[in-house]
Amino acid sequence: MKKTFYITTPLYYVNASPHIGHSYTQIVCDCIARYKRLKGGEVFFLTGTDEHGQKVCQSAEKAGKGTQEFTDGVVGRFKKLWKRLNISYDDFIRTTEPRHVQAVQKAIKILYDKGDIYEDTYSGYYCIPCETFWRKEELKNGLCPDCERPVEHISEENYFFRLSKYQDWLQKHIEKNPDFIKPDFRRNEVLGFLKQPLSDLCISRPRKRLSWGIGIPFSPEHVIYVWIDALLNYISAPGFADNPDRFKKIWPADIHIMAKDILRFHAVYWPIILHALGLEPPRCIFAHGWWVISGQKISKSKGVIIDPNPIIEKYGADALRYFLLREVTLGLDGNFSEGAFIDRYNADLANDLGNLLNRTLTMVHKYFNGKIASQGHITDKERFLLNLKESTVEEVDGCMKDLLISRALKEIWRLINAANKYIEDSKPWEIAKKGDMERLAAFILTLLRVLETVMVLIYPFMPSTSQKIASQLGIKEDISSVGKATLKKKFIIGIGHLVSKPQPLFPRIK
Ligand code: MSP
Repeated sequence: MKKTFYITTPLYYVNASPHIGHSYTQIVCDCIARYKRLKGGEVFFLTGTDEHGQKVCQSAEKAGKGTQEFTDGVVGRFKKLWKRLNISYDDFIRTTEPRHVQAVQKAIKILYDKGDIYEDTYSGYYCIPCETFWRKEELKNGLCPDCERPVEHISEENYFFRLSKYQDWLQKHIEKNPDFIKPDFRRNEVLGFLKQPLSDLCISRPRKRLSWGIGIPFSPEHVIYVWIDALLNYISAPGFADNPDRFKKIWPADIHIMAKDILRFHAVYWPIILHALGLEPPRCIFAHGWWVISGQKISKSKGVIIDPNPIIEKYGADALRYFLLREVTLGLDGNFSEGAFIDRYNADLANDLGNLLNRTLTMVHKYFNGKIASQGHITDKERFLLNLKESTVEEVDGCMKDLLISRALKEIWRLINAANKYIEDSKPWEIAKKGDMERLAAFILTLLRVLETVMVLIYPFMPSTSQKIASQLGIKEDISSVGKATLKKKFIIGIGHLVSKPQPLFPRIK
């Protein structure tokens, strides 16, 4: 049985509308999922929403709505935005769904029955925005060490999970598997964190303080701590409780992607919970950086927000996808500014890519009535560009394997720019003047073939632009089947192929 490639985003809190930060994680995962599918792999791409806990509860109260009604509304906004951004997820899980509740209760029961959960008094501090428990000595000037906001003191009867029991196992697992936590500097941070002894993890909240959560099967007075509830989504969606055959085909996750602020939950608590459940850990946990504005994290609870909707309306979803994927190396922080966005849009999209398509199609119509009639005379110039096209396919593949997403785009643009230079150097208008139509045919066919490859290579990054290029190139086949040919270095466009009239892809922004 061939394992399905399983990729996940975090489950977003539904305390407010989605912003650029959430969109970034979605777009990164979508790009990886689309690339895998293009290569012919079976993919399960999971996203969803984290709906329980105090933070969501408080936001519903503030909005004067019932919690379920409030979350339903916000979930709608997330789904709408993912549609506009062309996010090709295979499943959307909400932690309030019965299939999830069932899986969480099953998992908690297993851990309890094997003695990994015990009852004790929790006395410490709780950060509601981070939904995190802290000990006094962990606080920074009395504030949450992660977000530096006030915490509340709590003292309550709760259940604890024996995290400490598995610390050695986790440490060895990380040491033996260099690709388990990525990037490397994050892996080192986690190993550094594990040098201190782990405390056991409080995994419940008393119902009388917080009723908006999943009930603990062996204690009617408690609900499950929202982080444990949320992490378990990664096994509930593929069928841990209700579909063992499917679960076997999908689990373990090949990659969990999230931002650096929630790496500890994913790289420490989550693998230990899985190990205690007798399940394999995920193969890779990748923490990307933050999008910031003038050094401040874009965050809904801090009110520093960029709404992607007006950007999509003005410039299109693909321009935003391109900017976010190209602007930063996956793993590092990025500064969001409209100026940088417009610069990239005009330079890379309107000029480089837009012009290449426009000039090429214009020439096919001007010199050949939209159709190339012969192979023509190939020279070293054509050979050079066609070789570059082939090596770009390989380079991009290598980059995508290493999740060097921005570099993959850079490689594609190297090819686009080489093709633009080839037009300038070849001076087609002079060849036409001389009436050397065989030279001209070879020249234009080479450009069309480069464009066919570019169309396929940009598909994971900018799916609708890829589709638009396909339609202008007169390619009727599905991109995924053209993609298979491209990856095998074959072409769809040949002699007699009819192309459409050019339409601008990205009108210049003034
Ligand atoms: N509900 C938890 C995650 C549970 S996963 C089992 C949570 N939710 S969240 O709504 O706060 O979303 C956090 C995620 O949103 C980050 O991990 C990241 O993927 C994305 N981002 C939120 N703000 C971001 C930036 N400013 N920059 C980049 N990504 C950001 O944590």
